[in-house]
Amino acid sequence: MEITLEEEPSPSLEYKGAHQAFRDRWKETDDTMCRHSMSFHLNHTLRSEFFASYLYLVEKIPLVKLFPVTCEYIKGEKQFYYRAQKFYEDVPASEEGMMGDFVEISNVDLEGSRQFLKRFVGPGKAGTHCALDCGSGIGRVSKGVLLPVFEKMELVDMMEHFLLHAHEEYLGDGADRVETYYCFALQEFTPPKNKYDVIWLQWVACHLTDKDLMNFLIRCKKSLRPNGVIIIKDNMARQGCKLDPIDSSISRHLDIMRVIIAKAGLEILAVEKQDGFPDVIMPVWMVAMK
Ligand SMILES: C[S@@+](CC[C@H](N)C(=O)[O-])C[C@H]1O[C@@H](n2cnc3c(N)ncnc32)[C@H](O)[C@@H]1O
Repeated sequence: MEITLEEEPSPSLEYKGAHQAFRDRWKETDDTMCRHSMSFHLNHTLRSEFFASYLYLVEKIPLVKLFPVTCEYIKGEKQFYYRAQKFYEDVPASEEGMMGDFVEISNVDLEGSRQFLKRFVGPGKAGTHCALDCGSGIGRVSKGVLLPVFEKMELVDMMEHFLLHAHEEYLGDGADRVETYYCFALQEFTPPKNKYDVIWLQWVACHLTDKDLMNFLIRCKKSLRPNGVIIIKDNMARQGCKLDPIDSSISRHLDIMRVIIAKAGLEILAVEKQDGFPDVIMPVWMVAMK
């Protein structure tokens, strides 16, 4: 992508604040990065010399905003995905594990999702034959939102222990209506063509880089049946993008999500904020598209 600056960047106070915050956060990576690697030197150079203009550029171009922090490879592993994989290896296969510190909002979340889903399913809208739960974990959304509506389900998640728990225990009798469990990372997964009435991605779009999310949405579009919809439900940053280095996720502002969806050639049908969550947590939005 070619980037043209019309005038010299003059970082505002706001950018300087962000610059400092970013420098502080990235200092921690010094301990984990190989000091002889190019990434280490690039990281330092970015921090010390180019940072102000870099921030200026990424603020102007949301889709490339997080490229530098999500493209780093060490020993052939994309660190953004490697860190998430390591994080989820230690997460228990339970509702608590799926919800982090906020298991008490699970019921409010599921009710909000059921209401939102109703708007897109029914006569003249999406059918009720089959749905795909992406980043399903143990199947919390499948059990509480999708199985009551769809005849058949499929689940995809990168962690085998979550899928096993879904099948053997968590989904109960509902497991009989699960056709396939795919143990795949979404960035490497191509869903079957022309199969799903609804594809649901909850708290997993945040685990894909902008480019991988866009490409996954393109593949999802091809796997929808007539009138099918894709629904993303995720944390959306109040401003810009926020990287959580612990679980390796990115929260994007809704406008940035809109850009990614448009780039995937999808049309947004509705956006709705999830009500009833405590103010301390980041806003959660539902976006339906076709
Ligand atoms: C916060 S949990 C949410 C689980 C479920 N969607 C829910 O709302 O209860 C995130 C899930 O995404 C999965 N995940 C994270 N990154 C992934 C990736 N790149 N591909 C597939 N699954 C991923 C994790 O294994 C985990 O099960």
